[in-house]
Amino acid sequence: MEKLVIVGPTQLKGEVTISGAKNAAIAILPAALLINGSCQINNLPNIVDVKLTCEILEGLGAKITWITNNSIKIDCSNINKTTAPLDLTRKFRASYYLIGAMLGRKKEIIVGLPGGCNLGARPIDQHIKGFEALGATVDVSQGNVCAKVDKLLGTHIYLDVVSVGATINIMLASVLADGTTIIDNAAKEPHIVDVANFLNTMGADIRGAGTDVIKINGVKELITNKSYSVVPDQIEAGTFMLAAVASQGDITLKNCIPEHLDCITAKILEIGGNVQSTGDSLRVWMNQRPQKATIKTLPYPGFPTDLQPQIGVVLSLANGTSIINESIWDSRFQYTNELNKMGAKITAQGQSAIFEGVNKLYGAPVYSTDLRAGAALIIAGITAYGSTEIYNLCYIDRGYENIEDKFSKLGANIKRVIEE
Ligand code: EPU
Repeated sequence: MEKLVIVGPTQLKGEVTISGAKNAAIAILPAALLINGSCQINNLPNIVDVKLTCEILEGLGAKITWITNNSIKIDCSNINKTTAPLDLTRKFRASYYLIGAMLGRKKEIIVGLPGGCNLGARPIDQHIKGFEALGATVDVSQGNVCAKVDKLLGTHIYLDVVSVGATINIMLASVLADGTTIIDNAAKEPHIVDVANFLNTMGADIRGAGTDVIKINGVKELITNKSYSVVPDQIEAGTFMLAAVASQGDITLKNCIPEHLDCITAKILEIGGNVQSTGDSLRVWMNQRPQKATIKTLPYPGFPTDLQPQIGVVLSLANGTSIINESIWDSRFQYTNELNKMGAKITAQGQSAIFEGVNKLYGAPVYSTDLRAGAALIIAGITAYGSTEIYNLCYIDRGYENIEDKFSKLGANIKRVIEE
């Protein structure tokens, strides 16, 4: 079994380069299924979820050539299956994007019901509502989703909840539909804009991505032999920003988009930190104990749920009592039990948690309960006195590229160890 061993405390200092966005990459790869030919995708994060998506696409007939560690050529001219490798698709969440993309490409698909991190209920009713409105029939049984359509017809879809996955999925299914599709109450996350930019680069006609109304004019086919670079990861960048604050360090992020980080910057300034942006880099530094704060997670441009555990570490160490209200997921405070093992004083109940700030955290053996919880535990380990051992690295490896190398270059004493 692998574990991360971190000996702290360390004040992080130096530069870190942000990778391509996981949640954009794992949607853009299935989006390539809509191209009857090849394209090149650059700035892909080299993470388990990207490799898994590539394996699933290969199972459907795609030919993938790795050009570098972060760049692939993908040829989808021979998509010859309409059943995805079911065991693989059940392993992670983003396999739901195969439904939208394959409805567009082959008019049918069977996938295993998407798994992913355990954050509470994760329904896909809004995805299904969108596919059905476009003319598809969708059957969910025996752990599989089976979707079919004769002809996708553009329509007007109003999402009952703001959903990243449903917005992207309906966009995918609409690109090659007949006529115009309008998605109302769409999600606005940077990766939604990125998927739309990818598709538009490949010849789609999508307008309004990044606002809450997206209009997709169906096109006959997409263009081949184009290349695209995935947007920098907002959440990875936010993770390092909050690591700088928690460790009272001084970090410069390279290859990020500071505007995507405004909501995090605002909170960092509120709790006494400093942020300075220049072009595509951002310096974050902290010279004092953080002040208490109140946080509510919200869809973009609100404070992202995917940075809630990381700011939870900061607030564990803050001067005063803070409150976090998690409004997206039912069960995203599991990490607080692990932080309490390190000396934090957090009481979580339902979708709220109270953080009574402590002066110090202390190293302990802890278990990553999901991807972002894992990132939070790394930050906690860096700030804590003594040795922290983090288990369940499978979650962290799904979404962060070379995380221990990146933290190590910032001065952290962090090692991956194989335990007998
Ligand atoms: N929802 C529904 N019905 C649906 C879809 C969503 O009720 O059909 C609800 C969910 O239960 C949740 C809310 O709507 O309460 C938002 O869910 P959303 O669909 O936006 O989430 P997702 O697409 O499943 C993506 C990211 C998550 C991130 C959320 C919110 C991917 C693969 N996952 O999930 O990322 O937390 O958006 O921003 O893009 C992570 O990266 O660690 C992660 C969990």
